[in-house]
Amino acid sequence: MKFQAIKGVRDIPPPDSALWNQVEQTAREVFATFRFAEIRLPIFEQTQLFVRSIGTDTDVVSKEMFSFDEQGGGALLRARENIRNFLATAQMDQNAIAVFRGFVDDLMKRREEAIAQGVLEVDRDAADFYQYLLSSVRQLDEMITAGTWNDTELLGTIKLIQQATAYIRIGESLSLRPEATASVVRAYIEHGMQTQPGDVKLYYIGPMFRRERPQKGRYRQFYQIGAEVLGASDNPRLDAEVIEMLMTFLDRLQLVGAKLAINSIGCQQCRPAYVEILREALRKVKDQLGADSQRRIETNPLRVLDSKLPEEQSIVETLPRIADHLCADCRDHFTQLQEQLKLRGIAYEINWRLVRGLDYYMRTTFEITAPGLGSQDAICGGGRYDGLVELLGGPPTKGIGFAIGTDRLILSLQEAKKVDAAASARLDVCFAWIGAATYPAAAKLAARLRHAGFRVELPSEEMKFKKALSLADRLGARHAVIVGEDELAAGVFTIKRLADSSQQKLGETELLAYLSSDRGN
Ligand code: HAM
Repeated sequence: MKFQAIKGVRDIPPPDSALWNQVEQTAREVFATFRFAEIRLPIFEQTQLFVRSIGTDTDVVSKEMFSFDEQGGGALLRARENIRNFLATAQMDQNAIAVFRGFVDDLMKRREEAIAQGVLEVDRDAADFYQYLLSSVRQLDEMITAGTWNDTELLGTIKLIQQATAYIRIGESLSLRPEATASVVRAYIEHGMQTQPGDVKLYYIGPMFRRERPQKGRYRQFYQIGAEVLGASDNPRLDAEVIEMLMTFLDRLQLVGAKLAINSIGCQQCRPAYVEILREALRKVKDQLGADSQRRIETNPLRVLDSKLPEEQSIVETLPRIADHLCADCRDHFTQLQEQLKLRGIAYEINWRLVRGLDYYMRTTFEITAPGLGSQDAICGGGRYDGLVELLGGPPTKGIGFAIGTDRLILSLQEAKKVDAAASARLDVCFAWIGAATYPAAAKLAARLRHAGFRVELPSEEMKFKKALSLADRLGARHAVIVGEDELAAGVFTIKRLADSSQQKLGETELLAYLSSDRGN
């Protein structure tokens, strides 16, 4: 059997991995200059965390999450389904009752096992329901032992057992994280970070998971570099500074053609009224819209503005715009944000249709697109999410952040030929040692060069001179260091620059000095 990476998931082998490291390292350096510190987060969380923060009507939650039951949950779930699906009828015989009793036993046994293994916690409510279940089971057992029963009583008891099992905890649903803002907020609350001085500024780097249809720039396991600010302030200066950090990072990578689009989607005060106005307008043009948009008129009309369908574009353009319906505070916030961006010399355009696909946003939303990516051209999305901390049970806190899609950012850099991954991972020295007696000297020098930070290949198998030099060439080494018996006798090394074949004999110290001076060229 031949194994392959599963659909939508890929390896990032060298030399590309060097470029990934370089991009991530640049993020670390730039973000640190804005006092952001890294937070490492779990890859999976309770499903409910994402449901609550991202929203049930979003694509991410309704169809894209990779969810699974906590260990023990799967078997317990099936055992419970057997009980709940059992069709009890009048005049059941002993055998039918025994089958049902077997299901109950199975559930109880698996529950005990899960508790013993520590994968299932029993809270007070669940324990109460369990007692209730046990007393109903006792009644059933009494009937079975007596061998006679009244049908109404039997059916009643089975029903009670079925109801009680519905409340038994069978382990939690967990999900691979589809994004990390929810996790950052969870961690902020869990660690009581609101007591830290100033705003809490965090960044994260890592994989996210969404069950999307794979295509260029869209994967099921993809990577994000994200940053979040949590604190007391919702000053637009902060929004602008977060965007400034993002643009500084992209500049440092020399990404050309990146476009920043901003919008304001209002707040709890003004957005509901706008959504109703939008819904009314959409109902009037319903017949001209596709099935998805028609459904969204009722579930989440803002998402219609996201439509990419060519035939819907002219209709969307005629819809009422949120900018005309913002409350005074939101309007003021948006105006100030633009002033703050201008102050920082950051070019932007306003895209009134930028509503973003996650429910937690309010006021500022932004997105960055980059060339060379086809339809999946958003390399970064972000916005303000005041209220999310409270929604997840924390103290009143404001929040703003973004996440860069690293896969797309790197694709765009590669399309623009701005980067040569191989060059950044270039080998400095490849050894050509000729004759077993020369190996110890080569190994010692290799250790010294590596200690000085050079990238060194020391072949472990003995090779003929020509083959050793050809390997150095094929590995793309800048230099070959040749150790033959002559060199060994004279206490020197021959160093050959492969670009022009120039060579010289040097002692160890001179060789190190030579390599250091050549490093920059
Ligand atoms: P998002 O817009 O869902 O926002 O994702 C941010 C970026 O991740 C996108 O712009 C895109 O570059 C990348 N991305 C998303 N899905 C995929 C995929 N399937 N394949 C490749 N790249 C993808 C968020 O995730 C928010 N948590 C951002 C945020 C942080 N807002 C506030 N703070």
